[in-house]
Amino acid sequence: MKTISLVKPDDWHLHLRSGPAMRSVVEMSAAQMGRAIIMPNLLPPIKNTNQALAYRAEIMEALPSDLSFSPLMTLYLTDKTTIKDIESAATEPNIIAVKFYPAGATTNSQGGVTSIEKISPVLEVMQKLDVPLLVHGEVTDANVDIFDREEVFIDKVLEKVVRNFPSLKIVLEHITTKTAVDFILGSSKRLAATITPQHLIANRNHMLVGGIRPHYYCLPVLKRQKPDQKALLKAATSGNPKFFLGTDSAPHDRHEKESACGCAGVFSAYAAIELYAAVFEAEGAMEKLEGFSSIFGPDFYGLPHNQETVTLERKAWKVPMQYEFGGSQVIPFLAGTELSWRLVK
Ligand code: DOR
Ligand code: ZN
Repeated sequence: MKTISLVKPDDWHLHLRSGPAMRSVVEMSAAQMGRAIIMPNLLPPIKNTNQALAYRAEIMEALPSDLSFSPLMTLYLTDKTTIKDIESAATEPNIIAVKFYPAGATTNSQGGVTSIEKISPVLEVMQKLDVPLLVHGEVTDANVDIFDREEVFIDKVLEKVVRNFPSLKIVLEHITTKTAVDFILGSSKRLAATITPQHLIANRNHMLVGGIRPHYYCLPVLKRQKPDQKALLKAATSGNPKFFLGTDSAPHDRHEKESACGCAGVFSAYAAIELYAAVFEAEGAMEKLEGFSSIFGPDFYGLPHNQETVTLERKAWKVPMQYEFGGSQVIPFLAGTELSWRLVK
């Protein structure tokens, strides 16, 4: 196989940042993706319709006119989000969902939700107005081991939300464990999950054996090869529409990561579809790539498939050691290694 054409993919979970940092990376996603769900964890976070639309305008302004790319915005859920905030967002076609960060779980989540009880009225309205809930599925309890935080979240929080809001659409984002895969498989069609390139390609050995590699550090943290990475590979390449593409590409200034307290986030947007193609090929499942990258996501969100197509060609190329990022640099996932597929531009 020398080339492969796909319906243009979408990225259902993307961090673009703002200002010069955003302007450095946005074109990379726009070159590959028809649409992307843009995460709201800026400083300060995007909490209402006006802020989301202003952020969207900033992104659109940064895009070259020859690229058709539609950012789909999200609101950052807090204990203080109001029913009015949800009603207003629900009328806006460019706002697609609400993001639930447990307070303190990850980058810029300090203002997130402190308890599920506090947001019950808001979830009720989201369920009624068919606004999906996007979940960062980790508890923040200091007594829960960081490698167990997703499993405990599913058991202690998500299970309850699913039970109490039986028709709320939920996406468990960037799943990392076999437990998460099994939970999604055992739930109704209104529950889905995104899977990142790094959780398919790597496990905690890549991050920790032979030295600490900060550019593999993200949250939820990489887990075991067996059973977790293997379960993710199986789910992504299975053709089950409950699992679809969401890179969680999360660029940080290299100095913020190469530090005594390095922050979480893996930057994959520069070659998102090429990274997934490598995974699907290695699994002998290239024919399942298009569903995962371009079909199951829009179907879940009730949106049309993209009309355009993209072509990948088999062509070895070396991932740059760094990219320019808002006047500094960002280190891409798998910097300096060789990838075997390349998007034809
Ligand atoms: O690794 C991560 N980085 N996980 C998240 O949940 C947030 C993200 C970021 O914004 O940097
Ligand atoms: Zn994220």
